[in-house]
Amino acid sequence: EPFKADKLLLFGATGDLAQRMLLPSLCGLDSDGLLSDSIRIIGTARSGHDDADYREFARDALTRFLPGDRTFNVDRFLKRLSYQRLDASTAEGFDALADKVGPIGSEAGEGLAIFLSTAPFLFKPTIKGLAANDLTTGNVRIGLEKPLGHDLASSCQINDAVAQAFPERQIFRIDHYLGKETVQNLLALRFANILFEPLWNAAHIDHVQISVAETVGLEGRAGFYDDTGALRDMVQNHMLQLLALVAMEPPTSFDATAVRDEKVKVLRSLRRVAADETVAGQYRAGAIGGSAVPGYLDELGKPSDAETFVAIKAHIDNWRWQGVPFYLRTGKRMPQRTTEIIVRFRCVPFSIFADKGAKTQPNALVITIQPEENIRLSLMAKVPGLDRGGIRLRSVPLDIAMPDAFAGPERRIAYERLLLDLVEGNQTLFVRRDEVEAQWRWVDAIRQTWTDNDMTPKPYTAGSHGPSAAIALAERNGVTWHE
Ligand code: BG6
Repeated sequence: EPFKADKLLLFGATGDLAQRMLLPSLCGLDSDGLLSDSIRIIGTARSGHDDADYREFARDALTRFLPGDRTFNVDRFLKRLSYQRLDASTAEGFDALADKVGPIGSEAGEGLAIFLSTAPFLFKPTIKGLAANDLTTGNVRIGLEKPLGHDLASSCQINDAVAQAFPERQIFRIDHYLGKETVQNLLALRFANILFEPLWNAAHIDHVQISVAETVGLEGRAGFYDDTGALRDMVQNHMLQLLALVAMEPPTSFDATAVRDEKVKVLRSLRRVAADETVAGQYRAGAIGGSAVPGYLDELGKPSDAETFVAIKAHIDNWRWQGVPFYLRTGKRMPQRTTEIIVRFRCVPFSIFADKGAKTQPNALVITIQPEENIRLSLMAKVPGLDRGGIRLRSVPLDIAMPDAFAGPERRIAYERLLLDLVEGNQTLFVRRDEVEAQWRWVDAIRQTWTDNDMTPKPYTAGSHGPSAAIALAERNGVTWHE
């Protein structure tokens, strides 16, 4: 049924995500007239604000975090905000919140969107408080920010608690990578072109690499990060979503059920990873871009076995991908911030140039997702010149810089897409329960393997590409990580 929210209830309204992403995104949507004309945004958190204070708080966040290259109508947006103080861990205060929200309309264009951007231990009591005050029935949708638990069991508990109040079609689980234009463009690249799909399988692809490198370290979230580690922070969600988009079968349409049906099949086909197919790492002091950075343990101020890097050789057990490894790699304090997908094709079956001493290199499709979107296909070409009786070949790139190809449209914050879809009830870019659970199942098994084999993270120098064991993991299979 069509849904459009005229009320948005934001839990965690004073948090870091709200300041950096949610308020700027909502302000962007509102400034461009994409939200309902009558939308009201009610913020709630534990600290004591009244409406006026919260508007000032939001103004300050917007001053700091709105992108500089667009125009915004901040004053009109701020008038839409109000605030209710609430400690969601107790039942108290939800009645006052419900009064502030007011009745939920049943007409088209009237609906309540709720967004939980709080610690996951608050999800359960929050849902309870909402349900006890009639804020879960009727025209309501709920968005859940990560982390959705820390393993399969805790994620099921959260999902069960939410399912008691909402059917799955009203639940919107965020993976902000799905809000990135460049990630959505993977679907366009694969399914709006005929060129790639016939080759997109084990017969023609040698291996795939997915790499998410970050230069940042702990960023002031020591408590959360140290309990989480790179595997759960990045692989369980973002990287597996990228993998699913690369590996999925063509969906029958671009709608939520069709797309998610295909993604979940891939996630369920992931083979259990063997101990020698994973490497965990932790950074030591080093330098990035010429500046010295401290080691993880110095930043943290205590001993820890948390991994800040992980490399995995993954396998998808289905017809399309049998025998094609997917190498995943992510880490903090890498030399550069880049997210890349590399599809390495197989060699030509026979080279007519080999007896002339010319080497053919396999084609590769390199999709750079961040910091700038770029799609590069490497092709073999003849090097110009009169090579008597012979030929010289070299790999040359066919290159599309997306920002140049699309100079017009403004760049959006990933959360603009996701918040717009939440207030309009479109679930395509949100993660379904069965997907999250398949993701956790696979990741839990990797952690179990680490425990069973007493594996602890191997040191690497900040500013390097990770521990040497990660390089060896690829090289053992004749693969080099794309740098
Ligand atoms: C978050 C992780 O989900 O994604 C962070 O918790 C990470 O540790 C971030 O830095 C990366 O997101 P992006 O959009 O900067 O690639």
